[in-house]
Amino acid sequence: MNRMSKPWVVVLGVLTASMAFADEPKPTAEMLEKGKSTYKTVCANCHGEKGDGAGPVGAALNPKPRNFATEKFRQGEKPAEVFKTISEGVTGTPMVGYAYLPEGDRWALSYYVLDLKKPGSVLGGGEDTAKKKPAEKKKK
Ligand code: HEC
Repeated sequence: MNRMSKPWVVVLGVLTASMAFADEPKPTAEMLEKGKSTYKTVCANCHGEKGDGAGPVGAALNPKPRNFATEKFRQGEKPAEVFKTISEGVTGTPMVGYAYLPEGDRWALSYYVLDLKKPGSVLGGGEDTAKKKPAEKKKK
């Protein structure tokens, strides 16, 4: 498809880029897979394979990495906020920024972390999980 035939797409792209930290890509199964493999090599030592903070290095840290699934993220839980955390780190903790990783890898990691937080939430509608909660309750 020719991008120039749809000038509004370009305008929208520029607007989105200036509002968010960077162009937020749509999560896909491939991205989650990519995020998973990067997470295993770069993050799991501290954060644990399941994101529970029980990695061999993480256990010895102060502060310890939080359990992604049960503890709120201090720096935000929107994909763009997690992306920023991964890019810039958490001041005052051993969590450094990973800006050296390609941007696509950081987005993949952001979505993978959010999927560890709430399995299935990323591809099942991402930010709409809040809206789904009442329905889940009704089923019980
Ligand atoms: C050297 C150990 C270490 C490594 C490696 C590491 N982290 Fe962290 N991370 C921490 C610590 C410590 C914290 C701060 C405690 C907390 O907030 O959980 C943290 C915090 C976080 C947070 C929560 C921030 C918030 O808003 O509260 C996220 C998300 C995160 N890390 C993702 C990652 C990802 C993704 C990677 C791999 C690219 C990674 N971390 C690599 C130690 C590490």
